[in-house]
Amino acid sequence: MSSQDEYAPLLPSTQSTPPAMKTRKPLYIGFSVIITVLLCAITAKTTTLLRKPATDPAESFWHNVTEFGPYCDGATKGWSGWIGLDVEGAGVKRSFFILNLAEEDHEHASLILTIGGGPGTSGHTRYWTGDGPCLITEHGLEPNQHRWTENFNYLAIDHPVGVGFSYGNMVNSSADAAKEMYDFLQKFYVLFPQLKDNQLVLNGGSYGGMYIPHMANIIIAQNSLLAAEQAPKGNVHIPLESIMISNPWSDPLSHAGGLIEMLCQQTHPPVWNSSQCLSAYQALPSIIQAVRLALDIPTLHNRVKALNVTWDVELMDLHGVKRENYHERCDGSTAECYPYFIHMQDFLRNISKDLGVPEFLKYNTTSDTILELFVENGDFMQQSTRFFPTILSNGIRILHRVGMLDMNCPWTTVLNSASSLHPLRLLLTPIVQQSEFTRQPDVPWPGEESEATIRVVGAGAGDFTYVQLLNAGHMVGHDAPRIEKKLAEHWVYNRVFR
Ligand SMILES: *[C@@H]1O[C@H](CO)[C@@H](O)[C@H](O)[C@H]1NC(C)=O
Ligand SMILES: *[C@@H]1O[C@H](CO)[C@@H](O)[C@H](O)[C@H]1NC(C)=O
Ligand SMILES: *[C@@H]1O[C@H](CO)[C@@H](O)[C@H](O)[C@H]1NC(C)=O
Ligand SMILES: *[C@@H]1O[C@H](CO)[C@@H](O)[C@H](O)[C@H]1NC(C)=O
Ligand SMILES: *[C@@H]1O[C@H](CO)[C@@H](O)[C@H](O)[C@H]1NC(C)=O
Ligand SMILES: *[C@@H]1O[C@H](CO)[C@@H](O)[C@H](O)[C@H]1NC(C)=O
Repeated sequence: MSSQDEYAPLLPSTQSTPPAMKTRKPLYIGFSVIITVLLCAITAKTTTLLRKPATDPAESFWHNVTEFGPYCDGATKGWSGWIGLDVEGAGVKRSFFILNLAEEDHEHASLILTIGGGPGTSGHTRYWTGDGPCLITEHGLEPNQHRWTENFNYLAIDHPVGVGFSYGNMVNSSADAAKEMYDFLQKFYVLFPQLKDNQLVLNGGSYGGMYIPHMANIIIAQNSLLAAEQAPKGNVHIPLESIMISNPWSDPLSHAGGLIEMLCQQTHPPVWNSSQCLSAYQALPSIIQAVRLALDIPTLHNRVKALNVTWDVELMDLHGVKRENYHERCDGSTAECYPYFIHMQDFLRNISKDLGVPEFLKYNTTSDTILELFVENGDFMQQSTRFFPTILSNGIRILHRVGMLDMNCPWTTVLNSASSLHPLRLLLTPIVQQSEFTRQPDVPWPGEESEATIRVVGAGAGDFTYVQLLNAGHMVGHDAPRIEKKLAEHWVYNRVFR
């Protein structure tokens, strides 16, 4: 994936300004079940709309937005719904979102855009288990004491199309997923123009470590086209301010060695036994070779092969230890390891009718189809860190925080622990901040010594910042909600950690 093309902006006129009214008609292509039921109603509506001139830009693309919630005591109302995307003739795409405005000063509050990882994990996950106004528990919904929606406008998206409530033609790569997101944002700002000047922060983790740098890259490229007056008519500047990533999959090369190091050296006692560690270390040179080949010559075969050999080792038995938090045990099933995924799924299926979810669509927390498409395409075998120099040089700040108990995307894959003097493995591409970053120690967060360490390059909360969350695993928001919220506030307000 080292092609020059990915840095080139999308061509003008192919994106984001669908011809007036056209998208109302092919609503249910591919979903023949309900075509018959709805055809009359849709035809009637389309006909009336077509007679009117398209003066309102919001009428020029398909959308369906309703009020959302509140679903627990004290929570405020939000909006949810779908925006119809049209990315280069890819057919019907409906992207689902939930938006909550900040309780305090929403006119000036930053907008946090959150997606799930996976590939295939719903953007609802962080919303209902960490950040949103209500938390899902086995006893139902409870007000969230640590909700991010107190101070931030919060937008959760099922990304890409095919995940959660988002439906339609699916992509198989982070690059194409980012195009969907750009199109979504342009249309979102038409529907919610009051937010188009609020600073935008992209937030995600795990496979979000692949998605988010791709999104930042496309936003930066399109913003510069716009500044050069070469962007499609009607597009607006996207006020991206920073990105926040947790326990990312962003570099398969660092992942290979870091994962084995975590399971054999950094867990006490080691989670893998001596014979597993021996075979893992024996396999490491061939994994590195396969991954390097996939990065240098990114043919489909090389990418898929590299993913296969990586996973052959990665998926070895964990002896009942939970992959996403090694202080806990579970049998690997969703029901036992993430009961809240199941509660969330039940709840969202229960409220599907109220949300206007089409009947053929049953909410799943994770989409196996999206996962398969990305696996078959070997999308994992690329370094999203290659976008970091562009991101940083455009003044967009980057935060990494890692739950130290995670074995899925462990801290060792993010930071090379072999020597504290070694660079962040993330930064195989040199950037200005790198040499300073490698000189910095991880210092206890003043006042939060038992919870986190910080490493900051730059003023305030930093331009390039690495935070270790000592008591969290992969699901940072679920495991350490108080410190996650405090971290988000420091980061977004760009305030020194103290
Ligand atoms: C290590 O774990 C593997 C997988 O569970 C098991 O097959 C093997 O017998 C174990 N080896 C030792 C030395 O305990
Ligand atoms: C990768 O693994 C899949 C599933 O085991 C297999 O079908 C496929 O042939 C493998 N591909 C390569 C290139 O190794
Ligand atoms: C979903 O609805 C069923 C049936 O009404 C109910 O028993 C269940 O508790 C609901 N689950 C959630 C999580 O709301
Ligand atoms: C759109 O809105 C209408 C009216 O509120 C609703 O009946 C319908 O199910 C909604 N959903 C979709 C996906 O069209
Ligand atoms: C949800 O998962 C079930 C299996 O658990 C599957 O049959 C169904 O197709 C999935 N739905 C979607 C929309 O992915
Ligand atoms: C991924 O999607 C692209 C664009 O739709 C398609 O050309 C390609 O064949 C797909 N790759 C795989 C492995 O299915």
